[in-house]
Amino acid sequence: MANRVALVTGAMGGLGTAICQAFVQDGYKVVAAYHPQYDNKEEWLKEMADAGFKDFVCVAGDIADFASCQAMVAEAEAAAGPIDILVNNAGITRDKMFAKMEKDQWDAVITTNLTSLFNMTKQVSAKMAERGWGRIINISSVNGVKGQAGQTNYSAAKAGVIGFTKALAQELATKGVTVNAIAPGYVATKMVTAIREDILKAIVDGIPMKRLAKPEELGAACSYLASDLAGYMTGATFNINGGLHFS
Ligand code: CAA
Repeated sequence: MANRVALVTGAMGGLGTAICQAFVQDGYKVVAAYHPQYDNKEEWLKEMADAGFKDFVCVAGDIADFASCQAMVAEAEAAAGPIDILVNNAGITRDKMFAKMEKDQWDAVITTNLTSLFNMTKQVSAKMAERGWGRIINISSVNGVKGQAGQTNYSAAKAGVIGFTKALAQELATKGVTVNAIAPGYVATKMVTAIREDILKAIVDGIPMKRLAKPEELGAACSYLASDLAGYMTGATFNINGGLHFS
């Protein structure tokens, strides 16, 4: 649908970029939301333009902060129009064994990866319901489904993402607004390649497909969930993990 507007958080990271590209290919107007601290906007826009992806609206804000989300979505709507599709994609890791995890590492991950869903979704969900159409896509993780040693904070937040998805899906089910989650396995992005080499090798050895996911394999799932034909799917979690875990 050519005039739909999609906002993607963490747009300029590995997964966010693939989601943005999928949405441009689908004909949406794409709003690329990014954290001002990770401002590689000009470089990203150039890379995207070189690859044939243009006409983004870029908005900066902190998804961990409610007022910042309010301002960011208002700016996005002024530039692109009402948000029809929201992808809550931005996230961080602060991996530590629980015995060594500090309170700030717990708080940062819970706030950025889970409270952010409240902060961002609150800006758009009621208006989607009023218009009678909307798509909310939340990026969870295989580690929110199965748990991962070294990630009590991340696993808790990403499991929370699935709970949020199931609850809001029920609230919006009669309003034309679907709410779904994607639980990716290990994707070839900076977040994953930052894992210590020997640990990452052991992780990949444990994946039945013996490889990381390509970001575009996740972008394709977002593309489907955002489409009209996905209108009967809500409250679901897509597990895309190379066979690492079946839930
Ligand atoms: N299960 C249980 N115990 C484990 C373990 C596991 N999987 N892995 C390590 N341990 C134990 C070790 O045996 C060792 O025990 P002893 O102290 O008794 O010998 C102990 O944990 C090592 O603890 P340290 O705190 O010293 O560990 P470290 O500094 O070497 O590394 C870590 C800790 C940073 C968490 C590291 O283990 C790690 O990076 N693990 C990978 C975590 C992971 O998968 N992160 C995913 C990031 S990507 C992502 O999150 C995207 C997504 O959605 C999938």
